[in-house]
Amino acid sequence: MYAIVRDLPSSFANCVTSVDNNNDPINIDLARKQHEDYVDVIKQHVKHVIHVPADEAHPDCCFVEDTAIIVGDRAIINHLGAESRRKEVSGIENALKEVPVIKSIVHMHEIDPKATLDGGDVLYTGKHLLVGLSHRTNQSGADVLVKTFSDKCPVHVIKSLLTHDSLHFKCILSMLNDNTLLITDHEAGQQVMDEIKSFTGDHYTFIKVPEQVPSNILSLDGGKFIIYQKDFSESEKVIIEELKNKRGVQVKALCMSELIKADGALTCCSILI
Ligand code: GLY
Repeated sequence: MYAIVRDLPSSFANCVTSVDNNNDPINIDLARKQHEDYVDVIKQHVKHVIHVPADEAHPDCCFVEDTAIIVGDRAIINHLGAESRRKEVSGIENALKEVPVIKSIVHMHEIDPKATLDGGDVLYTGKHLLVGLSHRTNQSGADVLVKTFSDKCPVHVIKSLLTHDSLHFKCILSMLNDNTLLITDHEAGQQVMDEIKSFTGDHYTFIKVPEQVPSNILSLDGGKFIIYQKDFSESEKVIIEELKNKRGVQVKALCMSELIKADGALTCCSILI
């Protein structure tokens, strides 16, 4: 497996965010430390980590997940929903060229100039590609994924998040293992779950967690190593309870408080291939 990660720029505090940080601004040194801890854990579980240098002109550049979607040997470079983030993709395209399994790279905006899509709105489970429409990902962006990847796996477009306030689909949903998804226990989560079930039937078991931030976990080693957000004790209880009877699964809690202030979650900071 390959992982692509990108350093935090010194401009990180100027990131796009919906969080009001006026009373508790982003501490850039702490943010760097939290990101380094995250990369160190990934390094222990992924053979090849490609480290892309920070891009000072793009405060959000460490959120690499948004920039590309990869299924099998094909990658698509996204046209990001936030205009200020669109040029982040060039550094990541170069990194993708270093990954031997990737044989073709296409650009979303060349397929449809109206398309916008963030990787935070896309969950590839190995079996299905689930695309959530959001204020960043439009129908044209989802249509490009349908066109590009339908020969590889079923691509399903989930619409119910649009009527809610979440930034990204994966703010409320992530993958624990091949057949188990974690989802926030609120109205948006319920609607998204129902919509996914309408396409995939009983293929996935859904585990509901009470808080939104910890619904985004990072699953490595095919679900044998789980990284989750520290300091959300109610959700932690649910995750640990779910995993307690699963033999050989290890967990690691990471505090990502400064990245949360930037609307960043655990999956946002890496592309796993
Ligand atoms: N700060 C991450 C984003 O808004 O995309």
